[in-house]
Amino acid sequence: MLEVLIVYYSRTGNTEKMAEAIGDGVRDAGVDVRVKNVEETTLDDLQTADGVVLGAPTYFGSMPGVMKEFVDRSIKVRRKLEGKVGAAFTSSNSISGGNETTLISMIEAMLCHGMIIIGDPIKTGGHYGVVSIGKPDDETLEACKEFGRRVGELVKKLG
Ligand SMILES: Cc1cc2nc3c(=O)[nH]c(=O)nc-3n(C[C@H](O)[C@H](O)[C@H](O)COP(=O)(O)O)c2cc1C
Repeated sequence: MLEVLIVYYSRTGNTEKMAEAIGDGVRDAGVDVRVKNVEETTLDDLQTADGVVLGAPTYFGSMPGVMKEFVDRSIKVRRKLEGKVGAAFTSSNSISGGNETTLISMIEAMLCHGMIIIGDPIKTGGHYGVVSIGKPDDETLEACKEFGRRVGELVKKLG
């Protein structure tokens, strides 16, 4: 069975809510999903997943240190993640608070692993990945679900 792993960091719950909604969308596409806090995620989890979605709050216009530390550790599975689907999401305080650069920071890491990154041409939640400004409202949660569905559909297409 195909599986998507959603790895998130969240201190005050906003990114966690997005992770759960993206997980619902993946499930809607008929793909298994695991939603895990980055601090509980192992490198083995990364290797067994068919798709990986990274999510973190925007900290100083980039991913928080705890997510970067996880990304840095993933050097140990270099060449093992090639061809897997990758996607990113973030929560930030303000609309121009560096959320796109945060998405790019996570996407860059996945590109270095040779992963296939999903963008969004219709801008449901953002071209580079889904974004929430503060606590996700119903519209943002729906965008998260739609994003998850698209991730699931791509995993099935490549699967
Ligand atoms: C150390 C730190 C740095 C932050 N830097 C930014 C920033 O650069 N831009 C921004 O818009 N919000 C910034 N924020 C706000 C968080 O991104 C925002 O509150 C987010 O929704 C928190 O997500 P969480 O509830 O998942 O922890 C920062 C918060 C902290 C604690």
